[in-house]
Formats: sequence, C-alpha cells, structure tokens
Amino acid sequence: MKTLLRCALAAAALAAGTAGAQNYPSRPVTMVIPFAAGGPTDVVGRLLAQSMSKTLGQQVIVENTVGAGGTIAATRVARAAPDGYTILLHHIGHSTAPSLYRKLPYDALASFETLGLVTDVPMTVVAKGNFPAKDFGDLVKNVKANQEKINLANAGTGSASHLCGLLLQDAIGVKVTSVPYKGTAPAMNDLLGGQVDIMCDQTTNTTSYIKSGKIKAYAVTTPKRLAVLPDLPTTREAGLPAFEVAVWHGLYAPKGASNEVVSKMNHALKVALKDPIVIDRFAGLGTEPVAESRATPEVHKQYLSAEIGKWKSVMEKAGVQPE
Ligand code: MLT
Repeated sequence: MKTLLRCALAAAALAAGTAGAQNYPSRPVTMVIPFAAGGPTDVVGRLLAQSMSKTLGQQVIVENTVGAGGTIAATRVARAAPDGYTILLHHIGHSTAPSLYRKLPYDALASFETLGLVTDVPMTVVAKGNFPAKDFGDLVKNVKANQEKINLANAGTGSASHLCGLLLQDAIGVKVTSVPYKGTAPAMNDLLGGQVDIMCDQTTNTTSYIKSGKIKAYAVTTPKRLAVLPDLPTTREAGLPAFEVAVWHGLYAPKGASNEVVSKMNHALKVALKDPIVIDRFAGLGTEPVAESRATPEVHKQYLSAEIGKWKSVMEKAGVQPE
C-alpha cells in the first residue's frame, strides 16, 4: 500500500513537473545583471531582455545585483531555484572570478547551466576630458611620469575594466592607483566629472561619450579598428599587440534547470541575436552578436571552461593574488 502511494505521488510530481516545463514560462523571468544600471552589461542585458520577452511571451525583468566584481549576482543566481525564472547575464568576469577570489560561494562552471554566448564587446582606453595627452604614446608617457598621481577607475575585482586595467599597466610597465566602483556607469560619472583620470572600458559604455567629446579616447583593444569609431587606433597599431581583449558575455541558469528551460531560453537568445533592433543598437555601440554557432549551451560551456583555465594561468604568471 505504502509503495503504491509512493508511486502515485512520484507520478503526480513528475506530471506536475512536466506540465510546468511545457507551460514554461508562465510568469515573468528575472534576468540578474551583475553591475550598475546604465552601464555596459546593463545595456546589453536590457536589449536582450526586451527581445527575449517577445519570443517567450513573458516579460524578462532586469534586476541589477551589484558588487564584488559580479560575484554577488552570480551567487544569487547559483542559489536560486533552477526553475528557469531566474537567469544571469554575465561577462568575462565570470571566468576570471575563480582566479581572483579565494572563497567563491559557487563554482563558476558546475553551479550553472550555460544558455549560450551573446556578444564580444571591444574595450577602449579612455581618459577625462581635460587629460593632457594627445595620443596613445603621449598617454603612456604621461602615465609613466605621474604613476603615483594617476587614478584608474574600474568596476571591482574581476570586472572587465579591472582586467583591462591590469593588462594596460602590464603592457606599459606601470603601477597606478585603482579606484573600484560597482559598475562602470558610476565610474563613468566620475570620469566625466574629472574625479578619476583614466579607465579601460567597454565600447557599449564609452562610444557615445567619445563621439560627443566628453571624454578622450586613445586606443581600442581589438585587432581591427571599429566602424563606429574609425579614427581610434588599435592597441596593435599603438605598438602593444599583446594588449588585446574583448569582453564576452553569456547567459546562465542555475544548475539543474530542465532541458526544456535551457532549450526555450537558448531559442529566445538566438532569436534576439538576429533581432534587427538588437543588431542595430549593438552596431551603434561598437559590437555585434556572436555567430549563431557560438550561441549554444555546449559551445558556451566549452568556452567558459577554456577561459577559466586561460585566466588562471595569466593571473598566476602575473603574480596576481586572489582576495
Ligand atoms: C558594467 O556593466 O559596469 C561593466 O561590465 C563593468 C566591468 O566589468 O568593467
């Protein structure tokens, strides 16, 4: 009798789960963004969320959970129910965090289901509007001569701007004072106000300010110049070919999300990456969607795993100590 009852309960639970998955999503989905509103990750996330809402037939609501270079947001999603109603949009910082934080409350690979890669955003070396350097060579001379006075803004340990700042300092052989923020949106406010001197930040945050002349731009960290900022030399042209980085972004669900959730989310992501509004806005911000072949859970997982390994070895070689 007891066995029969157990079987009946298990069958009912299975049926409920399957029905739930088939109807998924039947309510709004929360997309957690690990940095401040108005910043580069937020811009990418909101564009995706708008487009994915149309495909999913439910609103994808953006929630900014900021701090600790994105690890607070990743913790929040790793601990959320794996029912597909809480997802994470994170960037390259998800792969650098394991080398930069001694005690992460999650495993960057094992605690998540990968849903697909999104975009690779170029970075720009920028400075406050009245920074006295006319080109990248001049910037290097100025920073070298004033190392103890220069403030370099970033979005916290493990953020893309932190990583880019480390690469910049390494490439030109300086050590300046880093000033952490909870995203490069607030960091940009202080750069605009002249409270900090320089920053290495994503084109999704810097392009409009560069075009309007509110900040100065010195180089872009991609092998080729950008169509949207054609006068900006590359770091390669500036003589620093080793200083190249693009900020890849990916979507995640908590580990244990069903195949149904993963496949519906991946489909909505792929549709978003072909959405003319997304493509157009990305282009205006100096970026583009990844090729469809990279927007898959499998490729995303392999890429994340390779990136975790790559940055571990880079950080070890550079002698960067985890916090
Ligand atoms: C942000 O959205 O503020 C950035 O992606 C932060 C960063 O990683 O530099």
